[in-house]
Amino acid sequence: MVRFAALSLFVACALAVPTSLSERSGVAYYNPAANGGSMLDVSGSLGEPLNVIISGLSSPSVLASTNALINYARAIGFSTECFGIHIGTPQTANLGDGQGQVNQLIELRQDYGSASLGTCLESVIGGNHFRAWQQSGSLAPSDAWFLAVSKEEPATQSHNIVPDGYDIGRDALVSGAVGTHSFGGVTYTTTAQNVTGLLSVGSAGINHGIALDGIVTVLTVTAS
Ligand SMILES: *[C@@H]1O[C@H](CO)[C@@H](O)[C@H](O)[C@H]1NC(C)=O
Repeated sequence: MVRFAALSLFVACALAVPTSLSERSGVAYYNPAANGGSMLDVSGSLGEPLNVIISGLSSPSVLASTNALINYARAIGFSTECFGIHIGTPQTANLGDGQGQVNQLIELRQDYGSASLGTCLESVIGGNHFRAWQQSGSLAPSDAWFLAVSKEEPATQSHNIVPDGYDIGRDALVSGAVGTHSFGGVTYTTTAQNVTGLLSVGSAGINHGIALDGIVTVLTVTAS
């Protein structure tokens, strides 16, 4: 009888699995610090702030996959890196979801209005860019995207961050995202909310010694 009950449970779980987002928790995000993670990624011995979160309460068509995020990013003025050429080493982040340090899943650059050539222009003249990780491990299954956004100098400056480039990059991404935008047949409506207390104010531990205002902007994206 016990064995039969266990088997039924197994079958029930197996039936629940097919939609890949069935484990979504209906939570906007979990604070990575609650489980040994950090709102700073790792770049050498210092870090860059994860200063924008795309809420786990957003539509599945934004959260479902890296390609889903890329399509959204294209709608708000970003594109994949210039011909796939990657400048710099991948950074890692621990989102406190039980996966430990994970390499960035993607790195996208402002596309200056041309999804194919614009990112090359960004590489030359500088501009906004972000790296992204997803909080999807079993300890914090929000499926929220955590973005490290920064505004960069041109390639001639080895892609250093402009002064105040984390806060500036965040605000530029957010102002380009809020409202309604379309790409690839999907229309996205985005709202923004600022959250304090996740990031510290100041420059302690921050790459390039750039001070932060301590704000994380949480975006909620509804697709149709
Ligand atoms: C979030 O904070 C930034 C920086 O202070 C500000 O420019 C922006 O208007 C704020 N956004 C919201 C939605 O409160």
